[in-house]
Amino acid sequence: MSIDLRGRDFVKEIDFTADELIALLDVAATIKASGRQRQRHLERRCIALIFEKTSTRTRCAFEVGAHHQGADVTYLDPTGSQFGHKESAADSARLLSRMFDGIQFRGRSQETVETLAEHSRVPVFNGLTDDWHPTQMLADFLTMREHATSADLRQVSFAYLGDARNNMGNSLLVTGAILGTDVRIVAPRALWPGEEVQALARAAAEKSGAQLLITEDLEAGVNGAEFVHTDVWVSMGEPTEVWDERVTALRDYRVTDRVMAMTGRQDAKFMHCLPAYHDRSTPTGRHAADAYGLADGIEVSTSVFAGPRSIVWDQGENRLHTIEGLMVATLGDLETGAILRS
Ligand code: CP
Ligand code: NVA
Repeated sequence: MSIDLRGRDFVKEIDFTADELIALLDVAATIKASGRQRQRHLERRCIALIFEKTSTRTRCAFEVGAHHQGADVTYLDPTGSQFGHKESAADSARLLSRMFDGIQFRGRSQETVETLAEHSRVPVFNGLTDDWHPTQMLADFLTMREHATSADLRQVSFAYLGDARNNMGNSLLVTGAILGTDVRIVAPRALWPGEEVQALARAAAEKSGAQLLITEDLEAGVNGAEFVHTDVWVSMGEPTEVWDERVTALRDYRVTDRVMAMTGRQDAKFMHCLPAYHDRSTPTGRHAADAYGLADGIEVSTSVFAGPRSIVWDQGENRLHTIEGLMVATLGDLETGAILRS
């Protein structure tokens, strides 16, 4: 099958078919395997990186990936440009797309990244909004494919524990549904993905044959899962006042050795998009340890995070290969099959 992703935006996963997402994983795997021998597909390209929210992995992956491929980047933060206060997203897209070959946006509103895409002449990438984290999905599914007992994602099962009505819960549910996996969202009902997101996932699962389970029942949710994911309990942009209620709601859903054992699988792996509160080495980690009696990590225990089942560093590294692959597939000169053969 011929897949050509040149010129495509990447603002949310549901805009892509399973074959297109798999093609993006294949491009990333090819680039990763080629190491320092990689071809430079993006000579003379320039990419604008707009960040309303902070980032380590996403920003670095776009910058290093662009550098590997011969492209340049310009980083725009909220204080250093007119974006979002003196100039609208639509006008910024009209202007930036006359200078740049691609635009990345990380911020609060999904509407902003979609407005950028609507008014841009060049591809727009969503580097995280409150609703979706699509570039993270490429890394997460590549990492699961690398570590799973079967390289066919339709054989893979995973559970996401924690705050599931946010970017990571939404994206894992919908992407897992598109790709035909066995997805479990395990969280208190108040923190489940919204009805609209669940409906998108159900429709995608009908096509792909994915199995979806959204449950409060920890044991049923993790039983048999090959991968256990979590994320921070309070996301960027949320007020610190929500910590108390979030810890109360999610304390039973921390990923601990007991939870990993509940999978019933010796080969179960732990994943986290990062950054993680897994010990006392950050101010928030120390605060939680003292205020909530969580001395060994908040959403994940120190023993799981640093233990043999954790594949978080492979997952973090894959942000680079997948974002580099996304840029090559959408901004380069070659259609996807030709990139894989190059
Ligand atoms: N996982 C992720 O998006 O990391 P950053 O916030 O560091 O970009
Ligand atoms: N849910 C987290 C993801 C960070 C990569 C946040 O939005 O802060």
